[in-house]
Amino acid sequence: MRFTVAIDGPAAAGKGTISRAVAAKFGFAYLDTGSLYRAVGVKALEVGRGVIDPVVAAQLAGNLSQTDLDRDDLRTAMAGQAASKVAALPEVRAALLEIQKTYARRDGGAVLDGRDIGTVICPEAEVKIYVTASDEIRAARRHKELVQGKPELTVAQVLDDLRARDDRDAARDIAPMKPAGDALVLDTTELSIDEAVDRAIRAIQARTT
Ligand code: C5P
Repeated sequence: MRFTVAIDGPAAAGKGTISRAVAAKFGFAYLDTGSLYRAVGVKALEVGRGVIDPVVAAQLAGNLSQTDLDRDDLRTAMAGQAASKVAALPEVRAALLEIQKTYARRDGGAVLDGRDIGTVICPEAEVKIYVTASDEIRAARRHKELVQGKPELTVAQVLDDLRARDDRDAARDIAPMKPAGDALVLDTTELSIDEAVDRAIRAIQARTT
């Protein structure tokens, strides 16, 4: 059985939480596609000693290993920024395209979250959800996650970081972040996690029953 749930949206809107919950509920596999770009970004910074070389980034994208994806420094703000820079390079996106397309149509169902799942990776997805929330709520949520490892971090810094990343992701020429024309837009600003998950589950059930 092929069934793809495409979940897109800006940083820290709740995509990961919703994706994991619906994958568990329906027994689907889950791919966090942001981690692919994060792994490439972090490694490209390392190889270039702080500078991202597009050719090197494309090579890295074509040779990602599980060890690269398991690194514990992928969730930092620096990794997010590096990810968003390499994600604007067409060669990097091309190198990561096939693995995501194959994952999306795997047998047994799949949930993928990212920026271009419903528009580029799997326009044929059975369910497309664009998860969003106000900038302030997203910054507050991400701050809560990151401040444990970095107590000096402020909400204002997180807000600047998210906005810079969202602007780059939405403005790039290739696969810009945007809702697919037929996506359900799910604004989680005033929703609890359970409510947001419940709406996503109902959207999927509407296609499965
Ligand atoms: O989702 P996450 O915040 O981990 O993604 C990190 C970055 O990777 C994003 O800011 C975006 O630039 C890039 N990305 C992308 N396309 C995807 C997933 C992530 O361009 N499908």
